[in-house]
Amino acid sequence: MKLFSAAAALLAAVPFTQAYWKGFNVAAENPDGSCKTQAQWVSAFQKLASLPGHFTSVRLYASSDCNTLALAVPAAISTGTQLLVGVWTQDDAHFKREKDALESAIKRYGQDWIIAISVGSEDLYRKEVSAGTLATKIYDVRGMVRAMGVKKDVGHVDTWTAWVDSANTEVIKASDFIGLDAYPYFEGSSIENASNAFWSAINKVRGVVDKVSPGKWVWVTETGWPVSGPNYGNGVASIKNAQTFWKQIACAAFKQIHIFWYVHQDYQASPSFGVIDRNGKAIYDQQSC
Ligand SMILES: *[C@@H]1O[C@H](CO)[C@@H](O)[C@H](O)[C@H]1NC(C)=O
Repeated sequence: MKLFSAAAALLAAVPFTQAYWKGFNVAAENPDGSCKTQAQWVSAFQKLASLPGHFTSVRLYASSDCNTLALAVPAAISTGTQLLVGVWTQDDAHFKREKDALESAIKRYGQDWIIAISVGSEDLYRKEVSAGTLATKIYDVRGMVRAMGVKKDVGHVDTWTAWVDSANTEVIKASDFIGLDAYPYFEGSSIENASNAFWSAINKVRGVVDKVSPGKWVWVTETGWPVSGPNYGNGVASIKNAQTFWKQIACAAFKQIHIFWYVHQDYQASPSFGVIDRNGKAIYDQQSC
C-alpha cells in the first residue's frame, strides 16, 4: 500500500502527458538558408504547439550561430516552449562563442526555459574529436552553468552506433543524459522492419549505458522518416511511409521515452524529413496517436 501511494503521489505530481519530453528538432535556418528572425522562431513554436500533439519542447543545434539563443529564447518564453540547448564544439573559437551565447542567455533569462544542454552533436560519428576531448568540453560547459546555479542535465547527442562503440565510453561517463539519433531509413531498413530497428538501437545503447553508468537516462534526440528523397537499401522515402513511421514509432515512443522528432521543416532538403510544408501545413496526419 505504501508503494502504491508513493507511485500515486508521483503520478499526481507529474501530469501524465508531461511525463516525457515530446519535442521537435528545429533548425535556426529557414529552408532557404536564411537565419530565422525572432518572429519566425515564434511562428515555428506556435505551429508546433498547434499540432494535435501540442509540442512545446524543441531541440536546437547551436547557441551562437544565427544568434540562435538570443532570438529563440525570448520566442520560447513568449510561447510557453522549452529548449534542449545545443552547444557546438568545433572548433575551439566557435566553442567559445557558443559558451558565451549560452552564458548570456542564462544571465538574461534565467534557466526555466532550459530542458537540458547537449554539448556537441554527432561529433563522434563524424570522427571530428576524440572521446576524451569531447568529455572535457562537456565538463567545461557543466562547470560554467553549475557556477551560474543551473541544475539542468548536461549531456551529448550522437548516433546510436557511436554510443555503443567502446572507444566512446568516456563521453557516457561525462554525460548526465545520453541523446541518441536513430534513423532506420538510413540503415536501409524497410518500413515494415523500422519499428524493430528503432527499438533495437535504443536497447543496444541502454545495454551499454547500464554497464558504464547505471541509471543514466537514454533519450532519443533525433528520429523520423523522410517524405521524399532517394532510397537507402530497403528504406523508401514517401509520405505514406513517413505516416506509418509516425503511427508506429512516435505514438509508442511518446509514452515511454524522451524524444525529439526530426524535423519541423526542411522542404528543400533531399531526403526531406520535415512535417510542415512550405505553406505551413502538416504534410501527414499526426492525429492518430
Ligand atoms: C529487422 O531489424 C532487426 C533489428 O535491427 C534486425 O536484426 C533484423 O535483421 C531486421 N530484419 C530484416 C528482415 O531486415
